[in-house]
Amino acid sequence: MKVLIVGGGGREHALAWKAIQSRHIDELHAAPGNPGIGRFAWCHPDVEATDVDGQVDLARRLGIDLVIVGPEAPLAAGLVDALADAGIRAFGPTAAAARIEASKAFAKEVMTAAGVPTAAYADFSDYERALAYLEAHPGPIVIKADGLAAGKGVQVCSSLDEARLALRAAMVEGAFAQAGSRVVIEEVLEGQEVSVLAFSDGRTVRQMVAAQDHKRIGEGDTGPNTGGMGAYAPVPAYTPAVADEVQRRILEPTIAELARRGTPFVGCLFAGLMLTAEGPRVIEFNARFGDPETQVVLPLLENDLLEVIQACLEGRLHEVELRFRPGAAANVVLASAGYPGPYTKGLPISGLVEADQVGVTVFHAGTAFDDEGQVVTAGGRVLGVMAMGPTLREALDLAYAGVARIEFEGKTFRRDIGWQAL
Ligand code: AMP
Ligand code: GLY
Repeated sequence: MKVLIVGGGGREHALAWKAIQSRHIDELHAAPGNPGIGRFAWCHPDVEATDVDGQVDLARRLGIDLVIVGPEAPLAAGLVDALADAGIRAFGPTAAAARIEASKAFAKEVMTAAGVPTAAYADFSDYERALAYLEAHPGPIVIKADGLAAGKGVQVCSSLDEARLALRAAMVEGAFAQAGSRVVIEEVLEGQEVSVLAFSDGRTVRQMVAAQDHKRIGEGDTGPNTGGMGAYAPVPAYTPAVADEVQRRILEPTIAELARRGTPFVGCLFAGLMLTAEGPRVIEFNARFGDPETQVVLPLLENDLLEVIQACLEGRLHEVELRFRPGAAANVVLASAGYPGPYTKGLPISGLVEADQVGVTVFHAGTAFDDEGQVVTAGGRVLGVMAMGPTLREALDLAYAGVARIEFEGKTFRRDIGWQAL
């Protein structure tokens, strides 16, 4: 198979790293890709992930058999639909099914129809009515921009004043542009957060091992939210009994409801869950692999990725049993100084070869080549250093040994990845 991976972050590096191990791979491409992926695949840096026409043209020109779409934006923009029109198979939901992530109000509507446990909520397109609702519910509350906001559209507010400001920012000041013209307001859930990634063929849904992300920039989960500062899998709190409840009460009803509406979900469904005292509750759905979660989940997956994907595309996922290696995987993200605020790009990175030698896998998230061919920083999240081990402790120790080998000016990372499990 000739495979094209759409995207150029750590998630796409992990997808490429897993795809290249498949016994079905003949040629691997990535667009735009990144210098890490470029070590073993063809990259097409001039084709952006969100350039739907450019991606379709590229896939056609290269004679691609299978496209795997990484990020949410091209899914929401209809890349999978456009590829289907061009007769090219792609793994990822259509734009209609991707609304489960692209509109939080739509996700809530689907969950309500399917009886899926989630936070109680109300949704508004009118600012005055939303404000009146807040005044009537003065306790802690969550305000979410309806549309895609690159992970920044959610604010957990502890007071009415904070909630008023968040609402104003989204609906009046346009902090999230069009994405904030509609908001979902919901109750605060308490517990441990877990990320469950699941393959679906539109009818059957199969869970991968659960992972835990670390969203805040600071140790002890302090400071502003980021795209994710590290992850590990599996999660001890996610017991087989919880997994079974999630399967029956959350994943299967959601997949069935999307199919019933004529928009079956084929791809990776990502349930962001809160393990509350009353049981698992959905915080949000994503229509794609998680980042950095994918960087710890795929290394533990024993199956051939392309075989699982092919089964999804052919509606026979029920024939596939997912297998995971024993032990744990951990990933520590190295970020630029200043992230998630403004940061400098173009700083040289050293020690990548030395890190490989200690036995970690370094996934590139935001890197580029400079004019001399040196790998330099090019994003907020720069690298994901992943290691596996018989226990989480050992996986983490190895990952941090890799982290110590890599240097760039302002290298920023959390030293407490996995603290909840440890
Ligand atoms: P998101 O950007 O949609 O992943 O949401 C950002 C974060 O906000 C989540 O990872 C949670 O930590 C938090 N969050 C969202 N909804 C709730 C809720 N109802 N209760 C508590 N925390 C929430
Ligand atoms: N790590 C969270 C996400 O991928 O949205």
